[in-house]
Amino acid sequence: MFGSVFSGGVIKKAFEKGLVEIHVHDLRDFAYGKHRQVDDRPYGGGLGMVLKPEPVFRAVEKVKCKHEASIVLLSPQGRKFDFHMAQRLSKLQQVILICGRYEGLDERVVQCLATEEVSIGDYILTGGETAAMVVIDAVARLVPDVVGKANSVKYDSFYEGMLDFPQYTRPRQFKGMKVPEILFSGDHKKIEHWRRKKALEKTWLIRPDLLKKRNLSPEDKKILDEIRTEKEGKKNESD
Ligand code: ADE
Repeated sequence: MFGSVFSGGVIKKAFEKGLVEIHVHDLRDFAYGKHRQVDDRPYGGGLGMVLKPEPVFRAVEKVKCKHEASIVLLSPQGRKFDFHMAQRLSKLQQVILICGRYEGLDERVVQCLATEEVSIGDYILTGGETAAMVVIDAVARLVPDVVGKANSVKYDSFYEGMLDFPQYTRPRQFKGMKVPEILFSGDHKKIEHWRRKKALEKTWLIRPDLLKKRNLSPEDKKILDEIRTEKEGKKNESD
């Protein structure tokens, strides 16, 4: 499952260059008994199976080798994963991701083993594996030298807590849709201002929560006022 996702692209190159290592462990290898059972019925009754604590503890004890490690339990009950969490994890020597499956996981793993519980969003996946892949991808690309200069994380929209401005490439006209004229002006200052305005507008419309979290510069505040006035003008025209 993990191999297919990381067998190409930027992350594969990072492994090859030795910038990042990833090891996948099967909990069954840490389960005892004839059937190597990793789950059992919940105490107190109820539907479904619960992941047993022993294989998870054993697995983590075996693989934990770095002092600076975070033991992350992926679960819909966790703190929401975001760019800042990815940045923090990318600076650690080791991140151990525990993927829950089944209907639940013994609470002792949550309370006494995991150092943090992380969710990638408000929905339920059938297992933590896909969530782990999201975390690995987002964290690995923040490790120095994993992505090239062109995609430098400095240019990530979330580095600044904003959404990206729109990008265009050839052809100049496609199915009657034109590329904004300003991008051909050659006036880099104007283009920069236009991009900033588009990024602010998109963030204001789609993710106003992001704008509330950051300290806007006086220039950004001015641009946002401009956007609001324009939008209100358009609304009044249509009323
Ligand atoms: N496992 C199941 N759903 C999940 C989610 N939303 N985030 C992380 N792990 C999960």
